[in-house]
Formats: sequence, C-alpha cells, structure tokens
Amino acid sequence: MVYSEEQKKALKIRVDYNNMMKKYVGEYGISDAEITALTGKAGKAHKAMEEKRLNGGMDWRQLPYNQKEVVADIKAYVDEVKDDIDAFVVLGIGGSALGPICVQQAINHPFYNELPKEKRGGYPKLYVADNVDPERLSYLFEVIDPAKSLFNCISKSGSTSETMSQFMIIKELLEELLGKEEAAKHIVCTTDIAKGNLIKIAKEEGYKTFIIPAGVGGRFSELTPVGLLPAAMCGVDIEAMLEGAAYMDELSKTEDIYSNPSYMFAILSYIAMEQGKNISVMMPYADSLKYISDWFAQLWAESLGKKTDNTGNVVNAGQTPVKSLGVTDQHSQVQLYTEGPFDKMIVLIGVDKFRRTMTIPKIYQDIPSLGFLGGVTQNKLIATEQMATEYALQKAGKANMTITLPEVNEFTLGELMYMFEVATGFAGELLNINAFDQPGVEEGKNATYAMFGRPGYDEKKAELDAKPEKSEKYVI
Ligand code: PA5
Repeated sequence: MVYSEEQKKALKIRVDYNNMMKKYVGEYGISDAEITALTGKAGKAHKAMEEKRLNGGMDWRQLPYNQKEVVADIKAYVDEVKDDIDAFVVLGIGGSALGPICVQQAINHPFYNELPKEKRGGYPKLYVADNVDPERLSYLFEVIDPAKSLFNCISKSGSTSETMSQFMIIKELLEELLGKEEAAKHIVCTTDIAKGNLIKIAKEEGYKTFIIPAGVGGRFSELTPVGLLPAAMCGVDIEAMLEGAAYMDELSKTEDIYSNPSYMFAILSYIAMEQGKNISVMMPYADSLKYISDWFAQLWAESLGKKTDNTGNVVNAGQTPVKSLGVTDQHSQVQLYTEGPFDKMIVLIGVDKFRRTMTIPKIYQDIPSLGFLGGVTQNKLIATEQMATEYALQKAGKANMTITLPEVNEFTLGELMYMFEVATGFAGELLNINAFDQPGVEEGKNATYAMFGRPGYDEKKAELDAKPEKSEKYVI
C-alpha cells in the first residue's frame, strides 16, 4: 500500500518529552538552556551523519528505499514455500534474532503459533532458536516436524558459533531424515554476499540465499532480509514497514533538533547520561510492544557501550537499557523507578488505539472498590494506568518521556524502529564513539574460539591461560 501524506500524518508517532524537563520534574530534569547549549555539537553530529550516509558509513539509512527487488524476491519465495511448511525456524542470535521476534510479536496475533494455519492466513508458525541451550533446541524438535519446516540460518559473519552450531545440528538431522537433495529445500540462508563460511556452504549445497548488504551491521539489519523474510513468512506487510521507516527518515533528516524526533531522543538521552542517568528504562504499555524493549536494548547497549572514543581516550561510555512492561511491572519495578535513585530516565511507550476492545462487565456495583471498574474498557484502564505512572514519576521528580503510537501496525513499527536506529547513530556522534562496532562482543566470541582450540587463536589461548587462577577462598 502506498500511504498518502494525510495517512502518514495520522500515523505519525509522537515523542512527548515534557517530563524530561526541569520545568516539570525539577532538579533532576533538563533545562532548555542545556539543550540549546548542545546546538553546536548537534550540528556537527548532523554533518557527520550526513557524510556517513553519503560515503557508505551508514548504509542502513538507505534500506527503506533500495530494496524493491529484494522485497519482490522475498514475497515470491514466501508464496512458493508457505503452503508446504508448518513451521519457519530462525537460527540466529543478537541482531539476527531480536528484530524478527519484535516484529512478529507486535504485528501478529499474540497467540499466533497456537492458531490453526487457516487463521494464520495460511502462513507457517514462527520459532526463533537463538540460544544454544541444548534443552531448548531439543524440545523444539518435539513440537515441530522437521520435514514440514523451513530453517532460516541468519548470520552476517557466517561464523557465529551459536548460529552455526544450530545449523550443523539441523543440517545433519534433515539429511538423515530426508536425504541430501530434499534436505537442501528446507534450509534458507541469510548472510553476507562474500564473507564468511555460510555463503560458501550455501553455494556448495545449493541453498536458497538472501543477502545482507555489506555495510549494514547486525543490529541495524532488521529492514534487510534478516527481518523482512521472517516477517513476510508470517504475513507481515513488509512494504508498509519500509514505508513507515521512510517516513521517519524524512522526519529525521532535518538539522533542526526541535522537529527531529530521532535527534531529540538522542539529545535527551545524552544529557541524561551526562547527568549520571546511566540507566534507560523502556516501558511499553502494550503486550504487542513488549519485545521492542529487547530489540532496543541490544541496539542501544551494543552501539553505545564503548571503552574508548574516536580519538582513543578511555571514556567507558554507554547507558544500560532496562526492559520493563506496563502495567505488569507497575507491580514489580515502578516502586524503584519512583522512589529509588535518580540514576535513570524512563521511556514509556503508549498506544492510542488498540486493535481490540475489552469491556469490563458492570457487575459488583454494590462493592465500591470494584464497582468503579464496571462498564469501563481495559483499553481505558491501561491508558489511565499509564497516565497515572507518568504522573507518579513526574511528582517524584523522575525524568520520563512518552512515545505514542496512534496504533500498532507495520507502518508505525517501521517508524519506531527506524527512529531508534537514527537516535542511536546520532547519540554515537554526540558521544564521539563508534556506534557500529562491537569489540566487547568480539572479545567473548574470540575467547570461545580459543577455548575450543580453533586454529588461528593460539595467541588468545595463551592470553586466557595467563589469566589469574581463581581462588577457592572466594567460592562457598
Ligand atoms: O549487532 C551485531 O553485530 C551482533 O549482535 C550480531 O548481530 C550477532 O553477534 C550475530 O552475528 P552474526 O549475524 O554475524 O551471526
């Protein structure tokens, strides 16, 4: 669908940051002057973003526009295979898993996998096997029929131990069950065009393959086949997602921070970090958006958590993302957010219009503590509780902002995810760090390879062997 300007405006997400400001939360808030003082730095960050976009340092920004052929290929492939399979299983981790989980949960029926196939629009169930917990993968084979399943191995590097171990297990299982030729039809790979083992294997084995563009890193890859294939395989309108992202891109092009929602999110977060607010809580008030917090957590943590800045100074930058859910966590974490330390900013995410309405019956009218709920919708209850939490936080002087989606659909989800991506890139520029590498993650990956004695990792092995011995004194 091509959205008209009017439709786009009606679906525009809103960022309300009143409660980040001193005027509303007092001492621990942000002043207008603090934002104004950042104008110069923001201008430089904007120029750096623009340059990177032009010179290939931010290829993910072009994804809303340059994938017509990819989308056509994905849609044709989905049409070709969907009737023959009951389950679509993603083998991937981190940036190759969190986006697919988030989109599926946001757009589809919350009990999607439990619906009969005709109620799923004829699309297969979706499973994401990200961890290497042996119990999980083994139990998965008890609920899917591998012969009626399609396994999507997603790895940009083509060498991630978790994903490749799953691939190896599944490849052997399929070949034993179906024979080599038939097994190959049950595997589809999403990887780099040239680098890594996976593309080589895929070519040799004749697997259907989708390509992750070279300049797009894992956590910025949701709008590539990494996210688009699993989404389309579950009936999600991927073109609408890309349109939503393109709309947010338009809104995020201006240098004027006061009308650029992505830049403003980054600026407020940056000032909050400067003030010592080292925690960013994301609290959607909608079950459908529960997993946007997981996806954002990786994006924000892996991109901004850096030891050194671009000039080599040790800065230990970053802000810890915390996942929370309204109203569920009102009964667990909100006490801390309201009365605990001033070390966090809280991002509430609300929805104007839910896809369903649930009315509470007008019973127990003689019991005042229950009667007031009678005739009220749960829609109103959740929205009211969100406003009440916002009020409690504001009254307690706790910095918070509210992002509102007019409704949850592919377009608004595309907007939201793209806004967080631009905000992350911009925050990286403000912090003067490289938001697009992950040396801390690589360290763990390399240590694993060394411990397994992988060729080429002798030096790392020697480094590990030289680490201080643990003492029994500190083991109880
Ligand atoms: O954002 C990232 O780069 C990482 O989280 C990766 O997505 C994750 O480590 C998986 O890597 P790969 O896709 O190479 O298997």
